[in-house]
Amino acid sequence: MHNILEVKNLNIKLLKNQKHLVRDVSFAVGKGKVLGIIGESGSGKTLTCKSMMKLLNEKVFAISGKVELMGADILGMSEKQSRNVMGKDISMIMQNPMTAFDPMMKIGRHMVDTIRAHTPLSKKQAYAMGLAALDKMNLNRAAGIMNSHPHTLSGGMLQRVMIAIALMLKPAVIIADEATTALDVNNQAIILNECQKMRDSGIGLLVITHDFGVLAKLADDVLVMKDGQIIESGTVHQVFYNPRTEYTKELLRARFLAHEVGYA
Ligand SMILES: Nc1ncnc2c1ncn2[C@@H]1O[C@H](COP(=O)(O)OP(=O)(O)OP(=O)(O)O)[C@@H](O)[C@H]1O
Ligand SMILES: [Mg+2]
Repeated sequence: MHNILEVKNLNIKLLKNQKHLVRDVSFAVGKGKVLGIIGESGSGKTLTCKSMMKLLNEKVFAISGKVELMGADILGMSEKQSRNVMGKDISMIMQNPMTAFDPMMKIGRHMVDTIRAHTPLSKKQAYAMGLAALDKMNLNRAAGIMNSHPHTLSGGMLQRVMIAIALMLKPAVIIADEATTALDVNNQAIILNECQKMRDSGIGLLVITHDFGVLAKLADDVLVMKDGQIIESGTVHQVFYNPRTEYTKELLRARFLAHEVGYA
């Protein structure tokens, strides 16, 4: 079977001091497959994903290796080419919803512009599509949200708006960076259900989370990152029930213990 996303020997360095932040990271995501990434804070999970979305400033980071989306070479794309792909063929739900939006732009404008950049829809049609996308994320009063600026919404609402935007154009791959962290249990379940539907429709998902319960339910395979490297990988079952490294064992212990005592 063909992979929709393939990352080969991805390396990310800081230009100013050559600090190596991501080292020789390779993985693949197949059609309808879910790949989870776990690892302590600062291990390079977000940088890895942002590089695939061309979100890293090339004046700050040196990026090498290969990222292929349905065979197309992402890292080698011009800015113009990547504008057609980002948000349309691959999209990312950011870890921090507050900084992911333009504070000056109403949600509706943002959604309509994004839709119209990638489809031939009219303003009115794009607006209707945006409303429907919000509705799916259990955001009622969607018209009011469309008319709001980002800072007037709660973190959890904004996160669901971002999820709606990431999903609405039905990309081939969706990257979710701690997408459900700011949500209550009810909304987490709604998002998870949407993720399951996406997977069933053939979309590939890359899920970064500290919630191993989410991965146990959703993921096929898991990567474990530490200090910018993949130190362990395998099926969810292998990694969770038969971890090979002390580091993974420690991660699992810390998380499941936290769950038991009600912290996570
Ligand atoms: N703009 C930047 N300038 C310098 N260093 C950076 C920059 N962005 C990230 N880093 C460094 O790169 C490393 C990896 O960061 P990254 O955000 O990918 O971690 P993460 O695994 O997503 O962590 P978390 O779980 O906290 O989100 C960290 O050591 C971080 O300090
Ligand atoms: Mg991160």
